[in-house]
Amino acid sequence: MKILFLGPPGAGKGTQADMVARKLGIPQISTGAILREAMKAGTPVGLDAKSYVDSGLLVPDDVMIALVRERLTEPDCTRGFILDGFPRTLEQAKILDGFCKLDLVIDLVISDEAIVHRLTGRRVCADCGATYHIDRLTSDTCLKCSGALIIRQDDAPETVLNRLEVYHRQTAPLETYYTQMDLLREVDGALSLEDGFTAIDSILRTAGE
Ligand code: AP5
Repeated sequence: MKILFLGPPGAGKGTQADMVARKLGIPQISTGAILREAMKAGTPVGLDAKSYVDSGLLVPDDVMIALVRERLTEPDCTRGFILDGFPRTLEQAKILDGFCKLDLVIDLVISDEAIVHRLTGRRVCADCGATYHIDRLTSDTCLKCSGALIIRQDDAPETVLNRLEVYHRQTAPLETYYTQMDLLREVDGALSLEDGFTAIDSILRTAGE
């Protein structure tokens, strides 16, 4: 199955996509994670992307499209995949349609106020990228690899507001786009992790029938 997780920054796309990917045995392709890896490694793509990511702006469409197009040719994608964070503009969505037909779009819907709380309380593992929230932290280090927990550069409060503005202006129009294609299913992003996963699982079962 080819699934897209849509929703504003902090809606829980990465967290839910990770759970669903493990359940279905298909890869989660997070463009944000790919960019952060590239930035950490200092590759040309990473160096070019850094100023955009750190200030909460979108990396240019041509860079992102090339990156995803190449990733989707890898062998682990043959049984399906979950796109997390791509497409993010109408241009990206239209070009994606040209080389890949999605089966389902899960749209996590949540208020801006809840997002600010989530992102300013998020902690990520510097080594493996696992995500936590200070409300539920049970350890000072990553539970998966014992790496240090850090605050993402783009989770600074002023950058979060910028990312939200960018989302409403450039990414929210995709809701209409995918509704018109009858692919979009909404899920309440404010649900608990477990209830959100149950809601998504039920949509997946219906879609798979
Ligand atoms: P990206 O990494 O994709 O960031 P984002 O879309 O802003 O999404 P986040 O990772 O911030 O949030 P999320 O929805 O995954 O939430 P999470 O599960 O972590 O992109 C970063 C940047 O890269 C962009 O700003 C842009 O510059 C660039 N970029 C990436 N893709 C691009 C593209 N296609 N085009 C152009 N540029 C691109 O959860 C957030 C927090 O909430 C966590 O602490 C989590 O533990 C907690 N949480 C999650 N679910 C729940 C819940 N149900 N209840 C309580 N807490 C929860």
